[in-house]
Parts: sequence; C-alpha cells; structure tokens
Amino acid sequence: MVNIDVGVDLGTDSVIIYMEGKGITLSQPSIVAYDEKKEKVVAVGSAAFDMLGKAPPYIKIVRPLENGSISDFKMAEVLLRSFLTKVFGNLFFKPSVAMCVPSSITGIERTAFITTALAAGARKVTLIEAPLAAAIGCGIDFKACKGNMIVDIGAGSTDIAVISFGGVVNSRSERTGGYDMDEAIKDYVLKEKKLYIGQKTAEAAKIKAAALTNPSQKITAELKGLSAKTGLPASAVITQTEICEAITPIAERISAAVHSLFEVTPPDLTGDILETGIILTGGAAQIRGIDSFISVRLGVDVKVVEDPLHRVAVGTGTCFKAADDLIDASFEEAGI
Ligand SMILES: Nc1ncnc2c1ncn2[C@@H]1O[C@H](COP(=O)(O)OP(=O)(O)OP(=O)(O)O)[C@@H](O)[C@H]1O
Ligand SMILES: [Mg+2]
Repeated sequence: MVNIDVGVDLGTDSVIIYMEGKGITLSQPSIVAYDEKKEKVVAVGSAAFDMLGKAPPYIKIVRPLENGSISDFKMAEVLLRSFLTKVFGNLFFKPSVAMCVPSSITGIERTAFITTALAAGARKVTLIEAPLAAAIGCGIDFKACKGNMIVDIGAGSTDIAVISFGGVVNSRSERTGGYDMDEAIKDYVLKEKKLYIGQKTAEAAKIKAAALTNPSQKITAELKGLSAKTGLPASAVITQTEICEAITPIAERISAAVHSLFEVTPPDLTGDILETGIILTGGAAQIRGIDSFISVRLGVDVKVVEDPLHRVAVGTGTCFKAADDLIDASFEEAGI
C-alpha cells in the first residue's frame, strides 16, 4: 500500500496542512457554508469565509471548531474531507494523518478528532499535543532532558506546555485567544464610538494596528459599520492606544495562565525555562509587543518564533519522523 503521511492543524480559525518534502500545501479558514433550504453544503474554506456576515439567512455559516475542540462533528468531517481531497486530488490512497489537539482536552474530545479524521478519509490517525508539535516545528531539541515552555496562542485557545525529554510534563489550555481580542475590540468600539462593527472589521483593525507595548496615538485603523445612534452606515477611526486598552484584559488572561502553569512545574524545570525563555507560536503571537507584555509580568525572556502561524502544522507533519523519540502519552495512534 502507498504510504502518504500528512500533518493537519485543524484549528478554530484555519486548517493548515503540511507534507514532508512539499511544505505547507493548504491553508484555509475553518468554515463551511450550509444551505438549509437545499440541505447541502455550498462552500468550504475561503469561499465560505467570503460569505461570512454577507450571506442570506438560509445559508448557515458554520465554524465546526470552538475553542480548539470539535463542536460540529458532521461539518468538521465535511471540512476535512474537502481539504484532503483538494490536497490529494482524490482519496483513492487513504493518507495517514497526524493531527494536533489542544493540551488537556478530554478523552471524548480526543476521540472526536480521531473519528472525524477516519470518517473524512484517513487510513490511520496520530494525535499529538499542539505545544509538542509546535516545539518540533520550531526545531527545539525536545528530546533533551531540559525544560522548554511553549505557548501557542491561537484563535480560540491558548495552549501552554512545559516539554522535556520528548514529552509534555505539564500543560494547560486556556479557552481564549485572537477571537476574544476581536470581540473585545467590537465591544470597545460600540461603547466608546457608538458603532457596531463585524468580526471581520475588528480582526482587520487588530492585524493592522494592534500593539500591547508602547502603543502610538498616530497609528490608526479605519472602521466601517452601523451607527448605534442613527441606525445608518457610519465609520470611525481607532488608534493603536485604544486597541491596546481593549485587548489588554485578554493578554492579562494569557499571561496569568502561563503564570499558573509555572506554579505547578517542578523547580528544576522552571530553572531551565529561566535560561531558555518562553517560546510563543500561533497566529495571535503576531500581536506586536505580546512578547514583552508577558516578559515584564513574569520576569522571563519571551520570544516569538519566525512564522509563528505555521509552526504547529510543520511540527505535526514531521512528527512521524520523531515518533521514536516521543513519549507515548503525548502521542496516540488509532487506525483501521
Ligand atoms: N498578523 C497578525 N497579527 C495579529 N493577529 C493575527 C495575525 N495573523 C493572524 N492573527 C490571528 O491569529 C488567530 C489565528 O491563529 P491560528 O491560526 O494559530 O489559530 P487556530 O489554530 O485556527 O486556532 P486554535 O489554535 O485556537 O484552534 C486569529 O485570531 C487571527 O486574527
Ligand atoms: Mg492552533
């Protein structure tokens, strides 16, 4: 049988697929558009994303993942099957799929990932915890008997783990990330500028102008939406300083979650992390100044890796090679 290995980062915001030798072969939003009248899926990925906030009411725009876990099994299967078919052309030869999962998810949630992948056309499924995948993807020597701390800040979840000797020593998953920042910006704009804006607008402002340290009044983003005063289309401008004020509570929550993991980590490992520093990955790690924000609060060096958005997918796709060096509990296989 032909053996094809593929790594899938099935995230709340996007699905990223990595294949050894080919690199990132797919990166698309985790969205499905379902026509309730015709009872069929009408768009998947980028095409469904374009319909977000703009589709007629009978088209349901579904995000099958919530806070890093599968919340809509059927749509998650449709999404994954569609993307695997896009990557391989057809699923004549069923691929062996490695998938990353948030740390500290329940057994039932893990089973949901396995069942979804098998139903979507995988021959075999390997699960790996997201921070461990991130460590592999960052090229960290995860086999060494030395503590490393990885914080993967995604859209709906922040995964924090201490890794040593090929396994996850301690981990926690905080159900917050980039989406909560978008919501915080939306709430701020409504309260301070009396303007309703959509999530896409809030996210665009965040990506263009967010900063958590030394924000500037001069850097701004334009917002278009609906005036809460007149009920008519309107626009406003938000400064970097205002975005910083809006998203700081979310960054504080992330920083507090990292702090709480230190409290339950053996002192020898925390000593190692003082030397190695904290590594940030994930899309929301790209918020300017989030590294120094956390560093100032915890007194530990914090570094954002290059290309943080793709590190988990790269590590997931290369974990087959590293399998012999990984501790079993962090690495689980199921197949048919
Ligand atoms: N340049 C950027 N600056 C700030 N935030 C960004 C940037 N690019 C992407 N993001 C944010 O990163 C988040 C997506 O990150 P990522 O793809 O790691 O999440 P995910 O893996 O889909 O979610 P999760 O891990 O929670 O399941 C979104 O909230 C997005 O707005
Ligand atoms: Mg992720």
